[in-house]
Amino acid sequence: MAPKGLIFLAVLCFSALSLSRCLAEDNGLVMNFYKESCPQAEDIIKEQVKLLYKRHKNTAFSWLRNIFHDCAVQSCDASLLLDSTRRSLSEKETDRSFGLRNFRYIETIKEALERECPGVVSCADILVLSARDGIVSLGGPHIPLKTGRRDGRRSRADVVEQFLPDHNESISAVLDKFGAMGIDTPGVVALLGAHSVGRTHCVKLVHRLYPEIDPALNPDHVPHILKKCPDAIPDPKAVQYVRNDRGTPMILDNNYYRNILDNKGLLIVDHQLANDKRTKPYVKKMAKSQDYFFKEFSRAITLLSENNPLTGTKGEIRKQCNAANKHHEEP
Ligand code: HEM
Ligand SMILES: *[C@@H]1O[C@H](CO)[C@@H](O)[C@H](O)[C@H]1NC(C)=O
Repeated sequence: MAPKGLIFLAVLCFSALSLSRCLAEDNGLVMNFYKESCPQAEDIIKEQVKLLYKRHKNTAFSWLRNIFHDCAVQSCDASLLLDSTRRSLSEKETDRSFGLRNFRYIETIKEALERECPGVVSCADILVLSARDGIVSLGGPHIPLKTGRRDGRRSRADVVEQFLPDHNESISAVLDKFGAMGIDTPGVVALLGAHSVGRTHCVKLVHRLYPEIDPALNPDHVPHILKKCPDAIPDPKAVQYVRNDRGTPMILDNNYYRNILDNKGLLIVDHQLANDKRTKPYVKKMAKSQDYFFKEFSRAITLLSENNPLTGTKGEIRKQCNAANKHHEEP
């Protein structure tokens, strides 16, 4: 850090309430980072997210899922968006990324920014702010988020499984993985509320249906799932899926918690969230209060969005989101 920066930090710490709080907040991110360099950046992203949502409602699901799949894997560095190269497999192509979609529309947003402020706004910030604005499209809360992230140059396919829980992971492992990012139990319960929108493909569900039906599934919900997933081995060419929340599939609301308490959670983790004694009290509280869900959700999304960002001179500002800039390509 430059001496000027250090003095600034010292003054900041001196005036702050506590040293730990001061240090925790100095991750290099700030509110409205592009205030001078591209004042219209946040408005452009918001407008593009709205336009895309009008044309393809499911883009909002993708923006919301992206923030988890990018930020939870080491850093919010848009490594998720990189395509495979001859030398490295992309995160997008791993099993954990199954079902991720709409990546080309991230490029639509990036292109709109490049037209106004070429080379200024990072894909990592686009990913985070599109999630924020996508959450609003889905009826969720508006969450003020900091910016100033820079883009990583390498995709991290090799470590994805270390950081992203599987669909059938134990709640202990899930709590540990999020805990490592500073996200506590109510925060984890709130984040899984994202499964109040979107879909789950049959390949992730058939193990609960065949050869026999998981007795933990609500018998009233089984016929619907069976109808959507009629084959023990789903045809890979047919897009077979079940909506995560049959009641309000397009709205980010607390109906997810009522569903999982009613044993209508699709994934094993969803089901266990409502049955583990550490998480169940929060599930019940969120099922009762949308305000409480939104409050915890906003807090947890903020923590997720600030996980270990690249700032200052680290990383780069990509020209397009699916590829690292040429002169920086690693040997
Ligand atoms: C224990 C953690 C989690 C696991 C194991 C998990 C797993 C999954 C799986 C298997 C799907 C279905 C994908 C498909 O078949 O297309 C899914 C969908 C989804 N997940 Fe998660 N997820 C987790 C946490 C999260 C978090 C923290 C968020 C966001 C904050 C999130 C957002 C979404 C969204 C929005 C969808 C629907 C995507 C779409 O319809 O395109 N998930 N998740
Ligand atoms: C979880 O599911 C995967 C397949 O998606 C399977 O390979 C793995 O053994 C399962 N793990 C547990 C703990 O059941």
